[in-house]
Amino acid sequence: PSPPPPAPPAAPAAPAAAGHTQPGHPLNTIRQRIEQYWKYRGFERGCDVDFFCASELPPIVSVQHNFDDLLIPKDHVSRRPSDTYYINDEYVLRTHTSAHQSTLLREGHSAFLATGDVYRRDEIDRSHYPVFHQMEGVLMFGAEVGADDPIVEEDLKIGLEGMARELFGDVEMRWVDAYFPFTDPSFELEVFYEGDWLEVLGCGVIQQDIIRQAGRGEERGWAFGLGLERLAMVLFGIPDIRLFWSKDPRFLSQFPVSGEIVKFEPYSKYPPCYKDVSFWLPEGAVVASSDGEVVDEAEASSGVVFHPNDLCEVVRDAAQDIVEQIELIDDFTHPKTQRRSQCYRITFRHMDRNLTNAEVDEMQLQVRRSMVARLGVELR
Ligand code: DAH
Repeated sequence: PSPPPPAPPAAPAAPAAAGHTQPGHPLNTIRQRIEQYWKYRGFERGCDVDFFCASELPPIVSVQHNFDDLLIPKDHVSRRPSDTYYINDEYVLRTHTSAHQSTLLREGHSAFLATGDVYRRDEIDRSHYPVFHQMEGVLMFGAEVGADDPIVEEDLKIGLEGMARELFGDVEMRWVDAYFPFTDPSFELEVFYEGDWLEVLGCGVIQQDIIRQAGRGEERGWAFGLGLERLAMVLFGIPDIRLFWSKDPRFLSQFPVSGEIVKFEPYSKYPPCYKDVSFWLPEGAVVASSDGEVVDEAEASSGVVFHPNDLCEVVRDAAQDIVEQIELIDDFTHPKTQRRSQCYRITFRHMDRNLTNAEVDEMQLQVRRSMVARLGVELR
């Protein structure tokens, strides 16, 4: 028997309330609409599938469940400690709700929706936050459906188009070919909404090896995964991802408990405060790119790597939800010394009130100190 997972870590700060189970909260509304859509679809077709809906599965999962069981290669970028919160060598904070696929299949579920908070180290702006919510959906078909039977892919597409119409109304849609290690073929669904093409979800036919390893032999299945904040921001017109954590009644009271989708009225716009920080990178350091390629090269030559995600973490630790954005505004290499310098602009803004100069200065000071202590840079 495997040992029990360890207690949750302190960072990232586990938010007090889970919006996706709070009545009237936009994340909860989207979750419930999708759950009802799939339950009703099953009922309407007279089939006996009832979707099992799980929204309280604990966020600490094994590396096995989060990556290995999903056939995610050992050297995949998403496994890096600069992208994933590791608790130890064996456990992570789930980076996606796909982490529950193999367990739920093994437990015998053939139709399920798993919703929960997921955790990723990432950049900071109005649509990125280290904790967000995803929903994973899976529907299985019996082994009598042949390996090449188009029914699985057809059902997936028809079902998901119906789900998108349930959320977005009568919109134009398109299917885009995609790649995920856990599905083949894989697709993304985009809808044309308020003048832009929006990516709604990733999906595909589940790799047969995943199904076999979960003890389900030659059964077939499809899966999809979507981000709730992304959809809620567009549907409700919510301009900043931090608002989903707001306890301010001016936010929550705008959304009916009945689960109607209404447009958010920004209740106030408090002014931002910008602070720049310039520094020399450690000698010989290479800056990691988000695709991880530069890191591979640097690691191969055992050089020092500067991860912009680490800088974001330093700023989050100092400013929590008061940081709105971090942007690289200057990057140059000194022609003589070959030393590389960067300048980042940090935007501080509180969602619910004005900031004082003193508190911004205090946060900026802490950022500068930790940059030296934790990232080894030299301030300019
Ligand atoms: N797990 C993917 C992500 O986090 C989303 C996803 C894509 C889930 C395709 C799926 C799928 O089940 O089939 O980006």
